[in-house]
Amino acid sequence: MSSPEIFTLRWGIIGAGSISSSFVKDALLDPKTRNVTDVQHTIAAVASRDVKRAQEFIDKYCKPSTVAYGSYEEIVADKNIDAVYIGTPHTHHYANARLALEAGKNVLCEKPFTSNAAELRSLIEIAKKHNVFLMEALWTRFLPISQEIKKITDSGELGDIRVVHADLSGDFDVDHIPKTHRILDPQLGGGALLDLGPYPIIWAMMCLYEHPKNALVAPDHIAGTMLKTPLTGVDASTSFSLTFSKLEAQAILSCSITLPSPNPAVTIRYRNGNVLIHPPPYAPRSYTVQWFDKPGSGKIVKEEKREVTWVGGGWHFQADEVARCVRDGKKESDAWSLDKSLVVMNVFDKVREQGGYKFPEGVEQVV
Ligand SMILES: NC(=O)c1ccc[n+]([C@@H]2O[C@H](COP(=O)([O-])OP(=O)(O)OC[C@H]3O[C@@H](n4cnc5c(N)ncnc54)[C@H](OP(=O)(O)O)[C@@H]3O)[C@@H](O)[C@H]2O)c1
Repeated sequence: MSSPEIFTLRWGIIGAGSISSSFVKDALLDPKTRNVTDVQHTIAAVASRDVKRAQEFIDKYCKPSTVAYGSYEEIVADKNIDAVYIGTPHTHHYANARLALEAGKNVLCEKPFTSNAAELRSLIEIAKKHNVFLMEALWTRFLPISQEIKKITDSGELGDIRVVHADLSGDFDVDHIPKTHRILDPQLGGGALLDLGPYPIIWAMMCLYEHPKNALVAPDHIAGTMLKTPLTGVDASTSFSLTFSKLEAQAILSCSITLPSPNPAVTIRYRNGNVLIHPPPYAPRSYTVQWFDKPGSGKIVKEEKREVTWVGGGWHFQADEVARCVRDGKKESDAWSLDKSLVVMNVFDKVREQGGYKFPEGVEQVV
């Protein structure tokens, strides 16, 4: 019997920075190390604003055959590229994704998808017009551990879900980094919410928004508050809660750039027990399940720590999703579809409005 053909997705990388290197290293791992035999990845080209930086990136992470470009315009015109990965700062995602979509390229764009929901709505329109695939690189959604936890939640084996508490924080040593660092600079959409917020909210999206009993109904109440740093005025710490009335459940979410994540980073509370997810919440490798003796009692009668391992950082699972979607002619992913990214961007807009965080004039390309 002949083995089924392996589909190879040829990537072009925009931005020779830190996250692009993580993505490329994972994409180039042998897919068999994660039991994937139907798709694989090549890095056809890398574009930087400086061709020397693109070449240095290629020398470090790619094969010598990878082409270096000194502009983003050149890479999207390359006929040997099937999909473009965008690894630039948040406030550049819109322009970079638009450039690629209008050139007819499929796009995987780093989180947060855009600066605001209006920019994302515009990108979705452009992707439709050009009949190409578009997805936010919310890699946590595709990790095997996320699938396991989602199964526990959706099956109801711990009873009705009531609350998701989730936090992603990181100490960026803000007093000692330049104010132009992307985490502090409002021109680059700096602050905790847009950079770290996608991770607490992904657990709310997976466990509440996507819950079979919620049937993809967006949260009907959003309440957020921000603590700004006097350094640049971006949010140092943000907390926000989402109410899913149909499901009778809430998410209590937070993020900060001035302290590390707590452990557990995510606590999912059900009537009959808890799931505790150990940090980091963007790519956890273990979680603990607790069972109560009876619904609502809080008396833990059984506890089990489970570990889920994989080779690599975990960015390759989303790459596999893009490859399969492109192979199958799909224009968006079912698992992390565009409506889900839009729910997230709407929440971020609302929380920024409530927290009084306005971007400098001209940052938002669409309002
Ligand atoms: N998925 C994840 O796990 C994860 C982790 C970290 C960050 N991110 C996201 O990835 C994006 C990039 O973060 P990063 O940590 O990789 O940042 P980074 O190391 O600063 O890299 C960003 C790259 O964007 C390009 N760029 C284009 N215009 C720029 C500008 N005006 N200022 C600075 N850089 C510019 C630069 O590449 P060239 O000079 O080569 O053109 C730069 O190397 C952010 O949106 C962030 O939220 C995701």
